[in-house]
Amino acid sequence: MKYVIGIDLGTSAVKVLLVNQNGEVEREVSKSYPLIQARSGYSEQDPEDWVEQTVAGLTDLLTDFSGDPVEIEGISFSGQMHGLVLLNENNQVIRNAILWNDTRTSAECQEVYDVVGKERLLNITKNPALEGFTLPKLLWVRKHEPDLFRMARKFVLPKDYVRYRLTGQLHMDYSDAAGTLLLNVSEKKWSHEICELLGLDIKLCPQLVESHEEVGTLIEDIAKSTGLTSKTRVFAGGADNACGAIGAGILEEGKTLCSIGTSGVVLTYEATGDKDFQGRVHYFNHGASDAFYTMGVTLAAGYSLTWFKDTFAKQESFEELLAAIDDVPIGASGLLYTPYIVGERTPYADATIRGSFIGVDSSHERKHFVRAVLEGITFSLHESITIFKNSGKKIDTIVSIGGGAKNDEWLQMQADIFNASIVRLQSEQGPGMGAAILAAYGCRWFNSLKECAEQFIIEDRTFTPIPENVAKYKELFSIYQEVYGKTKELNQQLVKFR
Ligand code: XUL
Repeated sequence: MKYVIGIDLGTSAVKVLLVNQNGEVEREVSKSYPLIQARSGYSEQDPEDWVEQTVAGLTDLLTDFSGDPVEIEGISFSGQMHGLVLLNENNQVIRNAILWNDTRTSAECQEVYDVVGKERLLNITKNPALEGFTLPKLLWVRKHEPDLFRMARKFVLPKDYVRYRLTGQLHMDYSDAAGTLLLNVSEKKWSHEICELLGLDIKLCPQLVESHEEVGTLIEDIAKSTGLTSKTRVFAGGADNACGAIGAGILEEGKTLCSIGTSGVVLTYEATGDKDFQGRVHYFNHGASDAFYTMGVTLAAGYSLTWFKDTFAKQESFEELLAAIDDVPIGASGLLYTPYIVGERTPYADATIRGSFIGVDSSHERKHFVRAVLEGITFSLHESITIFKNSGKKIDTIVSIGGGAKNDEWLQMQADIFNASIVRLQSEQGPGMGAAILAAYGCRWFNSLKECAEQFIIEDRTFTPIPENVAKYKELFSIYQEVYGKTKELNQQLVKFR
């Protein structure tokens, strides 16, 4: 039997999958690492933690592996997007990585607009300047930590750094580069114009590659410590959302994904890079060559639930926490939650907004809050679906992956709120499976990513909308949509107390 490994470098943990030639996941290891939140709005990680835990995960995966390690032909990656890893002339990390959910860079986003111009930025990068993207983070370090910035010779994204430590080779793939705000997305080139206007040396940008491209093999030390061989081929991999899409078969026009991890996204395939959404949704290169996707992002989707559990039910499992949600009626007996606990991206790019529970009543128990959190996350994702539908896209079937696909009630809630059929996959591995598919295609087991995805992905169950519920949620959604406007200013006044 031949195998590939998919490494999914997430925000809370790295997940390592061993996948055989039939697409079956034979082993799975997860290793977590901490988030460093020194101040409200700050979110960092130590890249060394990613490397240590990835190596530990690979080592565990190989323990008890009964086959010959040479049968593991390839490895590829999926990575949390946008995080800035700054490297010095010896490719050593200069400071902690500043992550995608760090929102300290509002002034730098304004600087990008002032210098480049909003229109021109959208023309080149297809995206607006958002706090989470990499370019504003580069400008932040230049302004606030000039001594560190002077040492910088290259910047990479999280999974690129881990791949570098595993292979000794430094690259970035197009799907992740698209989230830096420095890539000309439709031409697939670093933008000299943006770099020049902002006074950034284009040499900071690493060499670009396709997601399925082979970039090297494992260095001897890593092979030795993990039990793999130094012949194992390493393929570039892609952004976690691109890989989530590949792992769910979103590889042709008309296919849509709902992925709920720490963040939540609604993503649809785009065959071309020339549509104009005026920056209302993200528009990125796919992990499939010369394809694209558009997506809306809820910053705290799974994170809202994790925050709630860690704060109010630390000792319980997610299953225990969610056990009673079906006893609570739609609308959580008048309790409404907005998931803006770390700011928001879609449809409101606003780093200052914060979450709300509206309508707290003395009759409410914890289970009402839990249901309200799930509904609020799903309403937020529905904002993205509404943008797509209003732009003329037909969205009647959505593949759901991640934490949101692990609970039947939540899947039915998605069907009812999105008013679309929700497909659950049999072996739902999300971005890690996408990374494995990139490695399998890179190894030429298949003629295309699509052919591989068709072989590896099996649909399990479809949840269809219940008309009575659809009507109730429609009414609730229009109330939900009012909360942002009505709490925006209050949150601005509260900033000085954070
Ligand atoms: C996408 C985004 C998040 C991260 C999560 O733009 O910021 O979905 O990719 O890892």
